[in-house]
Amino acid sequence: MNDEPAEQTPQRWRLPTAGGDYVVEVAPGDAALVWHSWDSVAAGPSSCDRHFMGVADLLPLEATSLGTRNVHGAEIVVRRSDGLRGARLTVAGEIRLAQRDGESHLSCPLADHAVGLRVELHIRTRHDQRVVEKWVQVHNDSDYELQFSRLWGGAFTVPVDSEATIELLAGQWCQEFTPFQVRLPAGTLSIGSRQGITSHTYSPVITVDAGPDETGHDGERELFSVALSWSGSWRMSTDAVPLSGVLRIAGGSDDESATISLAPGQQLRTPTLTGLHTRGDADDVAHAWHTYQRTLSRDEPGSPAAIRRRPVLYNSWYATGFDVRADHQLALADRAAQLGVEAFVVDDGWFTGRTSSAAGLGDWQVDSGKFPAGLEQLIDGVTARGMRFGIWIEPEMVNPDSDLHRAHPQWVHHSRGRPLGTIRNQYVLNLGLPEVEDWVAHTLRSLLSRYDIGYLKWDMNRSIADGGPGRGGHDWSWRHTQAYYRLLDLLRAEFPDVTLEACAGGGGRIDNEVLARSDVVWTSDETGPRDRLAIQHGFLSAYPSWVMSSWVTDAEDRLDTEAASAEFRFVVAMAGVLGIGADLLTWADSDMDRAARFIARYRDIRHVIHGGRIRRHGSPAGQMYAVQCTTEECVVVLAWRRGGSDGEGRLALRDLGPGRFAARGGDQVFDADELTGAGLPVGWTWRDCDVIVLDRVP
Ligand code: DGJ
Repeated sequence: MNDEPAEQTPQRWRLPTAGGDYVVEVAPGDAALVWHSWDSVAAGPSSCDRHFMGVADLLPLEATSLGTRNVHGAEIVVRRSDGLRGARLTVAGEIRLAQRDGESHLSCPLADHAVGLRVELHIRTRHDQRVVEKWVQVHNDSDYELQFSRLWGGAFTVPVDSEATIELLAGQWCQEFTPFQVRLPAGTLSIGSRQGITSHTYSPVITVDAGPDETGHDGERELFSVALSWSGSWRMSTDAVPLSGVLRIAGGSDDESATISLAPGQQLRTPTLTGLHTRGDADDVAHAWHTYQRTLSRDEPGSPAAIRRRPVLYNSWYATGFDVRADHQLALADRAAQLGVEAFVVDDGWFTGRTSSAAGLGDWQVDSGKFPAGLEQLIDGVTARGMRFGIWIEPEMVNPDSDLHRAHPQWVHHSRGRPLGTIRNQYVLNLGLPEVEDWVAHTLRSLLSRYDIGYLKWDMNRSIADGGPGRGGHDWSWRHTQAYYRLLDLLRAEFPDVTLEACAGGGGRIDNEVLARSDVVWTSDETGPRDRLAIQHGFLSAYPSWVMSSWVTDAEDRLDTEAASAEFRFVVAMAGVLGIGADLLTWADSDMDRAARFIARYRDIRHVIHGGRIRRHGSPAGQMYAVQCTTEECVVVLAWRRGGSDGEGRLALRDLGPGRFAARGGDQVFDADELTGAGLPVGWTWRDCDVIVLDRVP
């Protein structure tokens, strides 16, 4: 790369998005592809002093490697097996931009021929949405093994002002998706997972409030958000280059717990990094993500086909734990059917040896003691009552006390020489081994072809702490995750009518790759109503309502213990894909009647909740909080409040456009101006919550 760039007009490529264009250009000297502008936000000249810097360290490179630049971070860190380290990537061929079917796809060949490394950088946009996708395909053209201690798919450069904040979704089991704000004037903020799953600790999305919108919209903010589509160990870094006025956000599979190796002639595609720019507030960011996630769903959210895939379900876990018995399950199914439930799911505990968490995982045969007349008897009972039958499985796991483990002790993730430890009494099967992947595929096929199953909940209840340089190699998480994807793809291809619920002890494995391969996700094991509302608030900032499985149980809150009514619980669960998880045999007739009414109400409006634009008003910690779901024809408002507040509340609605709206079930008619100005009066039908439906009138 030249030290002194020649003056020339750079070549530019425009990739349209719903917000404008994402524009890249070739840096002076044909050295690299750099970011030029995003909508109307342009890259300014770097304010960094050039002293001590090579040109590449001053440029907003779209993807770069250690060796191309050495002051600031790089996305690719490579070592050749003969010891040669780093690579100097330059543009090494024709940059192509294909535009068809509302999509633009740029590919840029980069290479260091001296190393034998070829990197094809891809950038793709869809013209009707804001998200920009990036990844790289790396090729080993050398005669040596290439070892990547970091192999990420590019980076996004985000211009920020001095007040910029970074927003994260973080937490722990039962407290997922808690929003955190960080100021980062200098340094690197690194988040990720070393656990072989996306994790409860951090969600792979980083949002930047870059400062006030300078295009003249009062109070609006300049916002960027970057997410990583990857479900194994991962890392995202936000690098605030001192005094440069930019953040560089990059990410990919974890660079700490894994090394990825490519043999001569091999190639590999990195996970996709996605970024978006918008103006407004956090719900505009959420809307842009939800719009992107629509394209990941196999049916249009809110459509009849999508609704059928996401039934109102009953799940037995909170009612029975491991104590699964055919007659008891049938009794629960009978009650569930009376409520208008559409799918009945037997959770953990149905298979041989499973009387506690200590045994059974891996032995996926129906326990004949618990089901003396076979699982068919329960399935027939469920389907005869008009519901689909669903079942729980945790196919990546094995208990030491299981026939599977006794037969194949070498199938588990295990670092050579390290004592093998259990978490929740279980080991993780190493899906990266072809024989293990085949066995899981066989297990799934046998189960789903033998029984009339319409709903499968795939759980995963521990991190893969024992992955490492055993038979799975240094890239154990990479291999495990790719096999997980292949197995989910197999389910979709061979059992297209089965709804797939993804779960990892609640929200331990939720990201855009999981969303692309499942229909719903179990958001959290926390079902206490006020805690759950807070989790859902965070979840909806990056993930959509139509995947957000949410059940009404009788569980207590752990954190926010202010009393909440039974109705409050229903309204919380109605904000996503409603389910019931309580022990229905303990519910009085009045509880059953209430549940049936709520389920009927939900079935009437769920196409709006799943298909509409989501707006969150206030904070679940505040006096009043609401979720507004808006389609062309209808607005649904789900509202909650604290005990200390009384009297009517007013909620200034958004996203309505001009027109008039009639309150369903009442005689009030409102002008849109009134609803967005003085606000919608919330009468609190129940003490601490309300559901209001407004229909647009001609
Ligand atoms: C964790 C899940 O999140 C729960 O819903 C339940 O399926 C248990 N695992 C069962 O072991």
